Amino acid sequence: MTHTDLSGLLIGTATAAVQIEGGDTGNQWHAFAEQPGRIVDGSTPTPATDHWNRWREDTDLMAELGLQVYRLGIEWSRIEPQPDRIDETAVARYRDELTAVRAAGIRPLVTLHHFSHPIWFEERGGWAGPDAAETFVRHARRMVDLFGDLVDEWVTINEPNVFATGGYLFGEFPPGRTNAWPQIRTVLYAMARGHCLAYRAIHEAQPHARVGVAHHLRGFDPLNPRNPVHRLLARSNAYLFQGAITEAMFGGRFPAVLGPQPADVDPGSHYDFLGINYYTRTAVSRIDDGRFPDVPVNDLDWEIHPRGLIDVARWLHDRYPGPIWVTENGTADRDDAFRARFIADHLSVMVDSGLPFERYYHWCFVDNWEWAEGHTAKFGIVDLDVATMQRRVRRSGEFLSRAIAAGAITEELRAEFLADSRYRRG
Ligand code: FCB
Repeated sequence: MTHTDLSGLLIGTATAAVQIEGGDTGNQWHAFAEQPGRIVDGSTPTPATDHWNRWREDTDLMAELGLQVYRLGIEWSRIEPQPDRIDETAVARYRDELTAVRAAGIRPLVTLHHFSHPIWFEERGGWAGPDAAETFVRHARRMVDLFGDLVDEWVTINEPNVFATGGYLFGEFPPGRTNAWPQIRTVLYAMARGHCLAYRAIHEAQPHARVGVAHHLRGFDPLNPRNPVHRLLARSNAYLFQGAITEAMFGGRFPAVLGPQPADVDPGSHYDFLGINYYTRTAVSRIDDGRFPDVPVNDLDWEIHPRGLIDVARWLHDRYPGPIWVTENGTADRDDAFRARFIADHLSVMVDSGLPFERYYHWCFVDNWEWAEGHTAKFGIVDLDVATMQRRVRRSGEFLSRAIAAGAITEELRAEFLADSRYRRG
């Protein structure tokens, strides 16, 4: 058994506003969830985990577990429910929470756009509409004005590639379009440009800020490595899904597949950290996603492949050097049968890699509303009883807490928490 030193990392959890808060009907996800058949269990993001009202309890619990960092979203539609009308009550509520988070010794990292935005923005075409990037940058600037005394770490946009394919290719996200290829390109272009402009705008207002994106990167490996078609598709799928937009968002250089170089974006570094959301890898034999046979899987049938995190981190870091923040990593595990092992395996490969990992934000804290999966996918280190809203720390939560306190995954912790923890194969 091994001892894994975690002293070089700050560790906590990540979440998104719509997935936990409840009660906001002004965002496009709420409207989408109300359409019959969109969400597997028919739920909407109200009440989610009712965090809007229970934030004190949640903050206390995070502090009790010793979490060091917390990635949270501030919901744009709450701050600006109508164009240029600011809801001061919502601002005050977020300020109270951020103040409490900081007082608990937890460092906040705030996401400005995590899949959701105001309905009025959606009605103008959302990220496929005119002036989307400009509208977003105005919002980003305002957010620094409103919260810059409490926050200096920002994720501009979460997972443009998942947002664009979810909403315009697979139809599982609002606006529910399928195979709308021109819009996918428009959305990716606008999000990348929006990020680059917001990166600059935030730094103008707050020079010491640390700003980046949370980029969804997955492994793309050929199903059969000896098949040249699989190899070719693995490379081209990876480029189309995550490579091209990486060049635009991190390097400010827009490749032709996305569109022309914007006149207001200069090539050059547009990140202070490399934000990576990593969950799984894809076995490529076709244009759409596949999975290797007989591998460890989670409740959503996603392969559990810790080494893939290092593959994507190295790939990114080779091109764009800098500190690496794992802005999301986690797994759907209803019975909490393997989450502790999942956490340990990912932290271990990170530490062993020698890459400059600085942060690990586990997805997620309390079981949340998982977009199209509703309440069916359980990602939390804390269990939520949806009927009573009661929180109960899972064993994996206890494990993470103890590892943070020890500054290591010690042999004792491995023996106590991981000995009976097994991955299911699928
Ligand atoms: C990521 C999303 C996050 C959550 C996890 C499971 O793609 O950013 O909101 O849904 O997946």
